[in-house]
Amino acid sequence: MPIVLITGANRGIGLEFVRQYAKDGWKVHACCRQPTAATELKAVSGAITVHQLDVSDFAAVKKLGTAIDEPLDVVVANAGAGGQDVGDFGDIDYDAFTALLATNTLGVVATLEAFAPHLKKAQGKFAAISSNLGSIGQAGGFASAYSTSKAALNMAVKSYGAGLVIDGVAVAPFHPGWVSTDMGGTSAPTTPQESVAGLRQRIEEMKPTADPLYLDYAGSELPW
Ligand SMILES: NC(=O)c1ccc[n+]([C@@H]2O[C@H](COP(=O)([O-])OP(=O)(O)OC[C@H]3O[C@@H](n4cnc5c(N)ncnc54)[C@H](OP(=O)(O)O)[C@@H]3O)[C@@H](O)[C@H]2O)c1
Repeated sequence: MPIVLITGANRGIGLEFVRQYAKDGWKVHACCRQPTAATELKAVSGAITVHQLDVSDFAAVKKLGTAIDEPLDVVVANAGAGGQDVGDFGDIDYDAFTALLATNTLGVVATLEAFAPHLKKAQGKFAAISSNLGSIGQAGGFASAYSTSKAALNMAVKSYGAGLVIDGVAVAPFHPGWVSTDMGGTSAPTTPQESVAGLRQRIEEMKPTADPLYLDYAGSELPW
């Protein structure tokens, strides 16, 4: 039975990852900040273990890495925040910006670091759920704090991931599309089901390389 770990697993894209992997018979480690409130997650049937995890609590991420004692075939670093509370240029809330970077960038680095040993044992795959807004080549001058956090995430996974190639671990960032979740809103053209079905295919295709592609859920390449 293949094993996957997913962060931010209680709603949106993360919850859909849990549903699809569990349905296909995978063992799932589903991480979320408030397990007691995660009613939709707890209603999913399958071999699912729910763990309490705030990815910006780096010590807690490390501790969970020690507590889970088995190889992981896939880790989906999905937990992310939108950064609306950072405010506009001229009135930036630096505490909020720091918290955003702690979740969207350093939380992913901490997740990679904590679970690299498990991935090495399985020659597994680490998928970081980034965004097209993390593309410096496409930067459009809006959502600057969020875009910065995702661009830094892209650099971090490409850079740290290169060091894991020798152990057969594949690491890459992905844009999930504009998805109808709490973050994406109701006008988003892509459903979580479509996005995650595509992302799972992309994850399946991942290879250990120091020069990974930056793809969206449908397989289109984005400029770094
Ligand atoms: N939806 C889109 O159109 C879109 C587009 C591009 C990229 N993305 C990315 O896709 C990922 C999932 O987004 P989504 O659309 O599913 O958003 P969502 O519906 O807002 O869900 C976000 C998830 O991340 C969790 N989370 C936030 N901060 C966390 C932290 N510090 N520790 C642990 N979990 C945390 C949330 O948990 P709580 O319930 O506890 O808040 C929730 O489970 C994010 O990384 C996002 O940036 C989404």
